[in-house]
Amino acid sequence: MNFDLKSMDLRAAASEKCDQLVLLVAEGFSGGADPLAVIVQDALRHKDFEPKPGKSLALYQCPGVAARRVLLLGIGAGDARSVRQAVLGAQTALRTPGVRRAVLCFAAEASAQAVSAAVHTVVHAAYVYTHTKPKAQAATLQRVVVGVARPADVAEGFAVAQAVAQGAQLAREWGNRPANHATPRLLADAARALAKHPGIDCKVLGPAEVERLKMGAFLAVARGSEEPLRLIELRYTGAGRKQAPVVLVGKGITFDTGGISIKPAPEMDEMKFDMCGAASVLGVFRALAQLQPEINVVGLIPACENMPDGRSLKPGDVVTSMSGQTIEVLNTDAEGRLVLCDALGYGMRHKPAAIVDIATLTGACVIALGGVRSGLFASDDGLAKALLDAGEEAGDPAWRMPLDEEYAEGLKSNFADLANVAGRPAGSVTAAKFLQAFVGDVPWAHLDIAGTAWKGGAAKGATGRPVGLLVHWLLARAAAPAAAPAPVTSPKARTRNKATPTRPAARTAKTSRE
Ligand code: BES
Ligand code: MN
Ligand code: ZN
Repeated sequence: MNFDLKSMDLRAAASEKCDQLVLLVAEGFSGGADPLAVIVQDALRHKDFEPKPGKSLALYQCPGVAARRVLLLGIGAGDARSVRQAVLGAQTALRTPGVRRAVLCFAAEASAQAVSAAVHTVVHAAYVYTHTKPKAQAATLQRVVVGVARPADVAEGFAVAQAVAQGAQLAREWGNRPANHATPRLLADAARALAKHPGIDCKVLGPAEVERLKMGAFLAVARGSEEPLRLIELRYTGAGRKQAPVVLVGKGITFDTGGISIKPAPEMDEMKFDMCGAASVLGVFRALAQLQPEINVVGLIPACENMPDGRSLKPGDVVTSMSGQTIEVLNTDAEGRLVLCDALGYGMRHKPAAIVDIATLTGACVIALGGVRSGLFASDDGLAKALLDAGEEAGDPAWRMPLDEEYAEGLKSNFADLANVAGRPAGSVTAAKFLQAFVGDVPWAHLDIAGTAWKGGAAKGATGRPVGLLVHWLLARAAAPAAAPAPVTSPKARTRNKATPTRPAARTAKTSRE
């Protein structure tokens, strides 16, 4: 989908030739004497339309308006949340076959956050899954012009929103694909495809290499499946080669049956979404490719299936992680932390400035926070704040959870350094405590996205979260390297690219990697 940002008032909007004109009307609307302003004023006066989020009025062949279809959408106070709600309500209009070109015009002054929210929500609303449902009517929307009073004020946010939306879309698509269409090997192909973009390289390891690295916990989970594991390593180099990278680790369980500690049948299909952490890493790299910020990022994806089999890991088995710590596997369904602990150990070899893992880790997190906020665990207050702020800015919020040492008590084992589960209480916290044992003193955060990465029920599908949170966090870090706790070589690092998603010529020398 192509976006354009244009200076536009209602008079100009009326002469825009498009298949669908969407007018975003905030409270306190005051228009002029031009045809569209008169229509809005009349509709408001007759109470046929209210400027509240969720309220809309569809019009057809309005005199003096070039577009055949016009949709008035209330956006309340014009805040990002209201805009999101309003544009979601226009989903049917945006997906109507034959609607190729749409114009979205803010009838009054719009904030950068409101414009970003509009861009993101249009992409989200127009998405139709077709990979294994080819007859589904895919949206025909190709070109969206966003009209605002002062484009220069919102241009940077506009470019970021497009990149985030595209990244979230990629994460959604891979999240949605069924496990037999999104195997570890196929995820690796998706990662390799990202390496065609400038600044991105990809390396994929198979079972033999992972064995050589002594990742006993990851190998043990993968052992029950016919599908071979993959350890995917993406690298984005946007800053000097000496700058310590941020490492992102995404849980890539392409299907989680629970293994020998098998899950009950109802809703087990949803465990195809157990690679949404991995998908979010792919999405972040898609956005980095477009924005080219001055930062170095490594993305790691341990990908495998968790299956019951004659060769599967059994409850009580003890495995040795890459770190050398032994783990008693009391429950084979707590597999996410087993693959993550080895990927985190591998990530530590990159001497990261910060390491963040993203995982659909615990049902307990769904109980704690539901689908509204992701669970955020962080060893470092500065890192926690930066991630929380990024989540608010992106409309992809998280909530900080505790990491008191007392929570680790239940992970003690008589037969290994650690057990992989504690009791039922605070299940998302004890899972985080387990991971913390593998990251040493490096600033680390863990995002439990079990509740936010997908929706169940009639609207079943991946959400693309937390791509927005992560990209906003990385951009903020690129813009303020002095605040980052790592040594930094480039003093003026910031998002180089504003409105155009092309690669700037000023990019510093970069040699190719593996
Ligand atoms: N992938 C699941 C977590 C999950 C479950 C996410 C349901 C969303 C909905 C994870 O691998 C898992 O099975 N976790 C167990 C841990 C338990 C055995 C300590 C869980 O949450 O039940
Ligand atoms: Mn599990
Ligand atoms: Zn799982």
